[in-house]
Order: sequence, then C-alpha cells, then structure tokens
Amino acid sequence: LAQAFVTLATNDSYARGAMVLGKSLRNHKTSKKLVVLIGPHVSDQARAVLHKIFDEVRLVDVLDSGDTAHLAMMKRPDLGVTFTKLHCWTLTHYSKCVFMDADTLVVSNIDELFEREELSAAPDPGWPDCFNSGVFVFRPSNETYGKLLQYCTEHGSFDGGDQGILNDFFSDWATADINKHLPFIYNMSSIAIYTYLPAFKQYGANAKVVHFLGQMKPWSYTYNPTQRRVRGSSQPGLLLQWWALYSAEVLPMLIREYGDQPFNSGCEVRPKHTEQENNHPLVSSAERKQRWEQGQADYMGIDSFDNIQKKLDVFLK
Ligand code: UDP
Ligand code: GLC
Ligand code: MN
Repeated sequence: LAQAFVTLATNDSYARGAMVLGKSLRNHKTSKKLVVLIGPHVSDQARAVLHKIFDEVRLVDVLDSGDTAHLAMMKRPDLGVTFTKLHCWTLTHYSKCVFMDADTLVVSNIDELFEREELSAAPDPGWPDCFNSGVFVFRPSNETYGKLLQYCTEHGSFDGGDQGILNDFFSDWATADINKHLPFIYNMSSIAIYTYLPAFKQYGANAKVVHFLGQMKPWSYTYNPTQRRVRGSSQPGLLLQWWALYSAEVLPMLIREYGDQPFNSGCEVRPKHTEQENNHPLVSSAERKQRWEQGQADYMGIDSFDNIQKKLDVFLK
C-alpha cells in the first residue's frame, strides 16, 4: 500500500491553503501521494485546481462538533467543522499517512516523517503536554475511525475541535514514547515569533513546516504584488513565503479556471498606467489568448480582475 500526505478544506478559502500546501510538497519533491478531503461547499473551479495538484480529491461529509461553548473559549467559533478531519482515518487504501492542516506550508522535504508511528505529532505551543493536530502521523483504519466517532458522541471534545478529541484519545502521547514527539520544526507555528523570539531567531531557520495557526490566515491578508508586501502584517517574513508561492503558482491556475468569472484573488490590483505597465511591450490579442490558455495570464496587468470586470460590464450593457 502507498503512503500519502492528507489535508482538508471545507470551503474555498481553506482550499487555497490546501493548494499552496500541495504545491509546496511537490516543489520539495515528495515521493508520497497527495490527498485532499473536501466538503460539498468547495466550488467546481477550486476542485478543478485541486485535481491538478493532488492525486486524490475526496468528497466527505462535513462533521461539526456543534460545541459552541468550548469553541467560544478558544475564540474560534469556526472550528467545529474540524471534526471532519477524523475522516482521514477512512483512507484505508494507504498504509500510513501524514495529516497536515491547510494552513501549513512545507519549506523542505519531510518524507522522513513516514518513519514515525501513529500517533506522532509536535507539541502544541499553548499547552505543550498536548500535541498540536495541525501535523500528525497516523495509520488509516476503519476500526480507529469508529472508535474516534464513538468517543466524540460519548465525551465530546474539550476544545470543541479535533485537537481536543485526538489528545484525549491518544492520551499517553505526552509520556509514553519520545519517538512520537515530533520536533517543533515539523510544525512551527508563527506564534513562536511572539512567545519566544530568541528561540525563533536561533532555530527558526531550521523549520521544515510553518503552521499559520490562529484566526488570521495568510489568505485573510491582502497582498500587493508590485511591492511584494502583505498589507497590515507586522511580521511579514513567513507570510511572504506563502504569498510568493500562491501568487506565482496557484493564482494563475485559479485565474485559468475562473476565466471571466470574478473571484477573490487576495491580491491588490495594480493601479492603471503605472510605469511598469507602460514599459511592458504590448502583445497581440492572439498571443495573449495563447498565453492565457497556457496558464500564463498577466493577472497583475492586462488580465487583471478590474479589466475583466470592465469587459463584463461592456457585455452586460
Ligand atoms: N478547516 C476547514 N474549514 C474550516 C475550518 C478548518 O477545512 O472552516 C480545516 C483546515 O484544514 C484547517 C484545519 O481544519 O487547516 C484546522 O483549522 P485551523 O487551521 O483554522 O485551526 P488552527 O490551526 O488555527 O487552530
Ligand atoms: C488547533 C489545531 C488545529 C485544530 C484546532 C481545533 O489549534 O492547530 O489543527 O483543528 O485546534 O481542535
Ligand atoms: Mn491550522
């Protein structure tokens, strides 16, 4: 049986994260399969792009803890749906998998994680005797899946999300086997910048996986492609890495799928008639069409969203 990296996206925002994660795994030459679990709300266009990046795109039911009280304590009312993550145990056509949140980014090859056993994970920065469920090694098994669901119905989750369940279920993680403690560099949350800056300065460069844990996700920001700046972020370094990959490799695929239909690219559109634009040699419309079809849309210039919108307006009138 093969081995796979698995992620999850129940909507188009997290799907963008999944696309960047998938690309980052490919760019670092993983030899493993890539699987994305999606919910029914993911758009057809996003699905089409996911199909190009992942080996398997699997539609699953969205499970929701409905536990508003515990989620409110975390100030994350949106995380009930992370129960959906538990579906990953049903991927029994793989012998071993590594689950990764859609808000993670791989910055070097991590195939060595498959040498670890279930359940291996890195400490949670907020409570290090809990593991963070943004990156973990597991063995698909319908039996385990059944037990997890049963656990959910009988006990609920202490945080309202999957991490609470998984820590209760694999409750000896903190004490039983040090091999199941992944080094923090396999799930380095950007929070470390604030909580332990000297350690981040000392070790941050060794990180293999960055996790944009917390309410603000890379795709919640707006990116200015001309200045290569992330608007409104005081610590833009890691975010810039995400945006560089998104804007260079994922956005062109999305633009191709959406064609003339508007969608939120997350990029600020360049003001018209900037110097660069005027210096760009004009291309013929046939050549432009050819480039577009090859996925090389000039999405920051002539093929920018506001130009597409103008064209649409003309048609509609
Ligand atoms: N997720 C999702 N849709 C949602 C919320 C979460 O698909 O509405 C998935 C996604 O893979 C995400 C993971 O569940 O990365 C965990 O949620 P999140 O990363 O937001 O939690 P955090 O790491 O910030 O605690
Ligand atoms: C966490 C984890 C995330 C998980 C969430 C809900 O903070 O980073 O992966 O889904 O808690 O339990
Ligand atoms: Mn996360």
